[in-house]
Amino acid sequence: MPTAIDVFEKARTHERIEQLRVAREADLLPYFRPLNSAAGPVVEMEGAERIMLGSNNYLGLTGDPRVIQGARDALERYGTGMTGSRFLNGTIDLHLDLEREIAEWMGSEEALVFTTGHQANVGTLGTLLGPGDTVIADSGDHASILDGCLLSRAKLRPFRHGRLDLLEKALRRGVEDGGGVLVVVDGVFSMEGDIAPLPQIVELCRAHGARLMVDEAHAAGVLGARAAGSCELFGVEDRVDLRMGTFSKSLASCGGFIAGPHDVIDFLRVQSRAFMFTAAAVPAAVGAALAALRIIRSDEGPALCAKVLDNARYLNRGLHELGFHVVQPLELPDGTSAVTAIVPVVVGDDWKAVMLWRALYDASVYVNVALHPAVPPAGALLRTSVMATHDRATLDLALERFAAVKRAFEAEHGPLPQ
Ligand SMILES: Cc1ncc(COP(=O)(O)O)c(C=O)c1O
Repeated sequence: MPTAIDVFEKARTHERIEQLRVAREADLLPYFRPLNSAAGPVVEMEGAERIMLGSNNYLGLTGDPRVIQGARDALERYGTGMTGSRFLNGTIDLHLDLEREIAEWMGSEEALVFTTGHQANVGTLGTLLGPGDTVIADSGDHASILDGCLLSRAKLRPFRHGRLDLLEKALRRGVEDGGGVLVVVDGVFSMEGDIAPLPQIVELCRAHGARLMVDEAHAAGVLGARAAGSCELFGVEDRVDLRMGTFSKSLASCGGFIAGPHDVIDFLRVQSRAFMFTAAAVPAAVGAALAALRIIRSDEGPALCAKVLDNARYLNRGLHELGFHVVQPLELPDGTSAVTAIVPVVVGDDWKAVMLWRALYDASVYVNVALHPAVPPAGALLRTSVMATHDRATLDLALERFAAVKRAFEAEHGPLPQ
């Protein structure tokens, strides 16, 4: 007898589908908006110039002539694609150079380059962990971390975002579970832009004998004197076991890496399915990432990082002064504040966030909208982010437009959270 259940049924009845339909009909869909130019401070989108406050091109290197040349040289030399896995016919000297330079940058024994950052997380967590192990993850961790945890079939013990008391509880339970224990956190959380309190997390992991992995996707190329990320910022690099990163943000390309001890990296090299059973990153992507990394590690790197963080501070203060509820930078014990390139504006209600996005878009400012599950339920936010290449005039213009949009929006829909 044939099955009565059509697996396609959910594609017609899922609540997201209804939301998508309504958003499309009202032209309120904040996603999949086509870009007609490079991801610079001002972009061309759907026939208009718009201020780009929704890109992860933090250092503005996607348009840097040296990075473009790096991609071009790799393309000329190796052609358009690898057509195979790193494992078989997809490793070129650029992959190896990049791995060596990332390991140096991270101060780790070795690094392994994956085709995307998502695969780096899935391919690391899904391989190192197994049934019988316990993985403890912050509820704000990136989806690719969760995917890797689920794939591994380890016991997942999530703890509420940033709650170290709950992390400690999970660690105690994790030890009782009886297997190996790994804690995995984002160094900088991708939506709220806040920084994980790594010194305390390191201590808790040590006290319970747990390994620690930090996702540096939004921190590498932004934080720390060498721009090596949140572990460097806090001076805990030597006490964090594994560090993951992506090339799709500051490194101006596409791809990802995991950095750590030689034995673990070698194990992943021959065991990680997300590494072995997919095509290697295309030469142009590797050439661009390598060129970007060399700029970040040159004398120019610190100035670029200072610029993006300065811009973030400026936008954060400006939006705060306009009365928006902006997530504030973390206060460090030395009295300074640790800002990141991400400046989130909390809205709360999903539809209000979408309508505010549309009003800003119409005012030629492009930002990202983060809705559940990217953020907690009723925690919708406009995720703005800056680049080192934004100038003050552009940020001032964006702030003017935010002010005008807020006035009109609140007159019609009531006050936004402060
Ligand atoms: C925190 C975090 N980790 C991992 C990833 C995945 O990286 P990629 O874009 O290279 O797949 C992202 C990308 O959005 C991210 O924000």
